[in-house]
Amino acid sequence: MSAGASIHTPVLAAEVMRFLDIRPGMRVVDGTLGGGGHTRLFADAVGPDGLVIGIDRDPLAIERGATELAGLPVRFAQANFRDIPEVLDALAIDRVDRVLLDVGLSSDQLADHNRGFSFDSEGPLDLRFDPTEGEPAWRLVNRMRPETLADIIYEFGEERFSRRIARRIATAREKEPIRSARDFARLVVSAIPRQHPPPRIHPATRTFQALRIAVNEELKSLRIALERIPTRLNPGGRLAVISFHSLEDRLAKEAFRNRQVWEPLTRGPVEATDEEIARNPRSRSAKLRVASLVAATPAAAG
Ligand SMILES: C[S@@+](CC[C@H](N)C(=O)[O-])C[C@H]1O[C@@H](n2cnc3c(N)ncnc32)[C@H](O)[C@@H]1O
Repeated sequence: MSAGASIHTPVLAAEVMRFLDIRPGMRVVDGTLGGGGHTRLFADAVGPDGLVIGIDRDPLAIERGATELAGLPVRFAQANFRDIPEVLDALAIDRVDRVLLDVGLSSDQLADHNRGFSFDSEGPLDLRFDPTEGEPAWRLVNRMRPETLADIIYEFGEERFSRRIARRIATAREKEPIRSARDFARLVVSAIPRQHPPPRIHPATRTFQALRIAVNEELKSLRIALERIPTRLNPGGRLAVISFHSLEDRLAKEAFRNRQVWEPLTRGPVEATDEEIARNPRSRSAKLRVASLVAATPAAAG
């Protein structure tokens, strides 16, 4: 299947460029290539003497990037960003100058009805960034104990109706296995009491987010990446993390608190301006934190 052109708009692009201060000749890792928006800006900034390494778990993002960014100083790798050291080893690169992690989901993935990320997709509730690895969410919701499901929905989705939703899932799947994203979204909606006024977000948003975080082990990947990146950044090198969820933002905030490793360049999280939110509503919940590496930690520690 062909990936087609990207519809994703990069968030906080001006702020990322300001805090990363990318100069010609630098080596930069974009750990979340997505639609390639940030990568393109990085490639323009490093110029022909520099290099950007565009990583994504999603094979379609890599395929699209290779087409849309052809001719630019970019190398691509289909990998988890927690494996940045292995990606750099394969390219015979020791350390880099800048890293960006813009975590979560791209608009391209959301729009792809085969992936199950959107509430109205008839396709299976898959929710994996890399559809060739791990367990799709539909299988997880059909097999997990309701208590475990409720814990996931509560912890990763901060959904207060998690137990009701898990009970509804358990009853529904006794009749017929859950399969499509649309049917699952309807099931979730039916388990949540009607709210007045109606909520700003779709009532199934938190449950979808929780399952996505679980099937992709998103928090674990970010935690490992934050530990390993210092082993492959040059001293003074910079890491930017854009997150869309309080648990992810907390991981970045806590990692940057270690002043033996990081000097934070952002005081609090940098958020989108009203103008950006009006232009790109996805940016509403984005939080950017940037830090510079105080002293390189030995690669062996990675
Ligand atoms: C918000 S989008 C990135 C958008 C990108 N910055 C742009 O400007 O188009 C997030 C991307 O990160 C990828 N992703 C999420 N977790 C990942 C991980 N642990 N390793 C590699 N890629 C990941 C997703 O597949 C998705 O394509």
